[in-house]
Amino acid sequence: MICIRGATTVTENTAEAILAATSETLQEMMKQNDCGISQIISIVFSATKDLDAVYPARAARELGITEAGLFCVQEMDVPGSLPMCIRLMMHVDVLSKGQYAAKHVYSQGAQTLRPDITNNEPAPKPTTPPTRPPEPKSKRPPRKKPPQSSIIAIAIDGPSGAGKSTVAKAVAEELGIMYVDTGAMYRAVALNCIKDGVKIKDESAVQKIMQNISIDIFYDQQGRQRVVLNGEEVTEQLHSQKVADATSVIATYSKVREYLVAIQQEIATKQSVVMDGRDIGTKVLPFAQVKIFLDATLEERARRRLLEFEAKGETATLATVINALKLRDRRDKSRANSPLMQADDAVYIKSDGVPVPQIVQQIVAELHKS
Ligand code: DC
Repeated sequence: MICIRGATTVTENTAEAILAATSETLQEMMKQNDCGISQIISIVFSATKDLDAVYPARAARELGITEAGLFCVQEMDVPGSLPMCIRLMMHVDVLSKGQYAAKHVYSQGAQTLRPDITNNEPAPKPTTPPTRPPEPKSKRPPRKKPPQSSIIAIAIDGPSGAGKSTVAKAVAEELGIMYVDTGAMYRAVALNCIKDGVKIKDESAVQKIMQNISIDIFYDQQGRQRVVLNGEEVTEQLHSQKVADATSVIATYSKVREYLVAIQQEIATKQSVVMDGRDIGTKVLPFAQVKIFLDATLEERARRRLLEFEAKGETATLATVINALKLRDRRDKSRANSPLMQADDAVYIKSDGVPVPQIVQQIVAELHKS
């Protein structure tokens, strides 16, 4: 079963407007997730206090959704929250599809951002399309307009161990959008080479692997990204030191990067994402509304890596971890193809000693500003 979320807004409290907006959102949720009426198990509808002309569930019945459990609730009245908003949570049986990442639908300015969880400025009024406030005075150059402003893209780049995945996951959870760990995709390519006995330093042999490789990502019940390599679920095999070392070599090869960047860009055209990696702000998502360059001192990064190894029962010393990180930093920063670097319009954040929630709030605040 998966849970698909949707939200929309109306400009007047009339049965006609509420039913039309709800019906449109329901149909879009079904269309984007390729789901038929018989697969719907239940739908929860919520509406803000200012909408009381009709129960939005009626729109579902009018579409012929009669077997599913339908339930309407009134939303909490939080100061500054989006007015005249209808939210939906649809539970769908997707047994036949196996694991599947839900595509959520937000229309008519109904953003995922909620002032009650972000402690920030209210979301834009529904009658006006999302607008950009004047750029705050900063040294950063003005950002180009993204191609689809309703889709959120947040790019987080930085060196190994800077805390990107922890922060990116937390931001994605806070905003209710997808987290994409691009490093795992590069690691999957390296694992494929190791499994097939391909010499990592032999670029043409690695290129050959790319002709037949298949990498898929999906999200488990807990929302964690899982990686399927050539039909085998390999997520747990991706984080050994051996795979990490091989990954920083294959990540320098242009065929590998072309293949993976195309997958990553495709994912980001379909849904809102927080994506982390090395070239997300510079290459993969140049139109991202928010770009972050997350950094930390070498010592702090090594200390974190060491703790991760210890948690997995692996042995390593601080000195060996520091040396491995230095080597990977050098490869990531000096490669000709999309080297690790801060995008001109990225915000630099140093994570040493800063609690994760504080960094998350800073990133969410950047999104409000964008
Ligand atoms: O983030 P990570 O440690 O899982 O990344 C593994 C390797 O892949 C690392 O050496 C850098 C490389 N990588 C990359 O070159 N580009 C990305 N977008 C993500 C990772």
